[in-house]
Amino acid sequence: MKNIAVFASGRGSNFSAIAAAIKGKKIRANLALLVCDNPKAPVLKKAEKAKVKAVLVRRVDFSSKKDFEEAIIKCLKENNINLIVLAGYMRILSPEFVNEYRGRIINIHPSLLPAFKGEHGIKDAFVHGVKITGVTVHFVDEHMDNGAVILQQALPIKEKDTIGSLEARIHKIEHKLYPEAIKLFVEGKLRMKGRKVIRF
Ligand code: GRF
Repeated sequence: MKNIAVFASGRGSNFSAIAAAIKGKKIRANLALLVCDNPKAPVLKKAEKAKVKAVLVRRVDFSSKKDFEEAIIKCLKENNINLIVLAGYMRILSPEFVNEYRGRIINIHPSLLPAFKGEHGIKDAFVHGVKITGVTVHFVDEHMDNGAVILQQALPIKEKDTIGSLEARIHKIEHKLYPEAIKLFVEGKLRMKGRKVIRF
């Protein structure tokens, strides 16, 4: 069975959705670890409640990004992690880190990539006035919100939408799409073909 580590810095609603999918055996994997960089993140309480081992690795406790990431990698190795799931982890992984786990790190982003990369995908799409936005799950490479797309789901923006109502619908999609993508990964149903991810 594959061991999964979720990386999160904040609320942790995706963490909870993934934990529930694993508990309900929709995904046959072991949620072995939560890696968090923020002592105030609500996700820490969610991990405690779900009885998932959590480690707090703060950037301020290390003199360099290299040392910080090496501490995380040590922890991942100790827990035999096969898949890293970024779920609102507010840090860019270095190329060295990405190389160490290439093809085994995935991320979720609240827009239809490559549109609206960055921290405010939902708001940026809303303010831009696009009629369709959505959610993307993708492999992580050394560039932000850039790696090969695994799954996408589109979502029309309605005229009566506010940022709040749009956010709520985006998160609902995320909580379904991320477990689906993780399931495909752990069942070995994803292959790379150039830049593309092929499902079979
Ligand atoms: C999600 O919108 C995700 O797409 C983005 O960060 C947010 C995390 O939310 N990468 P949560 O902490 O899982 O509730």
